[in-house]
Amino acid sequence: MSFAARVTGPEDARAVGELLRASYPVLMRAAYGEALSAVIEIITRPNPALLESGTFYAAESGEGQMVGIGGWSRERPGDARMEPGLAHLRHFATHPDWCRRGVGRLIYEVCETRARESGIGVLECCSSLNGEAFYAALGFEPFERIDVPMGEGRSLAGVLMRRRI
Ligand SMILES: CC(C)(COP(=O)(O)OP(=O)(O)OC[C@H]1O[C@@H](n2cnc3c(N)ncnc32)[C@H](O)[C@@H]1OP(=O)(O)O)[C@@H](O)C(=O)NCCC(=O)NCCS
Repeated sequence: MSFAARVTGPEDARAVGELLRASYPVLMRAAYGEALSAVIEIITRPNPALLESGTFYAAESGEGQMVGIGGWSRERPGDARMEPGLAHLRHFATHPDWCRRGVGRLIYEVCETRARESGIGVLECCSSLNGEAFYAALGFEPFERIDVPMGEGRSLAGVLMRRRI
């Protein structure tokens, strides 16, 4: 059950969409219940800017299946605001069949290494409620509970978390 991470490109949009639609409805349901139904179509859309950013990654199995995604950006999700030395983790998802095998951790480690090489000293993430234990295991600490705008007037509860790198 080996896997490795690589940078994504625009040609990955279809596979990324399939992965998001396989992952979020299953893995976020217990934390959000019916509230998830109202936003699921919005939050499982691949983000073309992220895919082309050079700082978004896909983990693939030895058979070439996309099993996880995630990345980072200097722009804050939502308003694209930038602060020197600060970056934001973006759109992490693992296929349900591949959870708890280190896929998310591998992608995070690539993000952390590349961000540090780019002069970033602090990483922030807007975690889903179900993602909080994952980010805590990676060394992130929660600092604010928020309602995350999802676009089209909808929102989901989330947790802002941060760590120095
Ligand atoms: C959060 C998510 C990306 C984690 O992916 P993953 O590949 O399963 O994570 P890893 O296997 O690398 O886990 C690393 C560590 O995080 C912690 N962790 C991961 N998932 C966890 C869970 N559901 N509950 C508790 N701890 C968890 C564990 O400490 C784990 O190490 P261990 O398995 O050795 O104990 C995945 O569950 C997912 O896609 N969730 C749905 C989408 C989502 O909420 N993404 C976050 C958006 S902000």
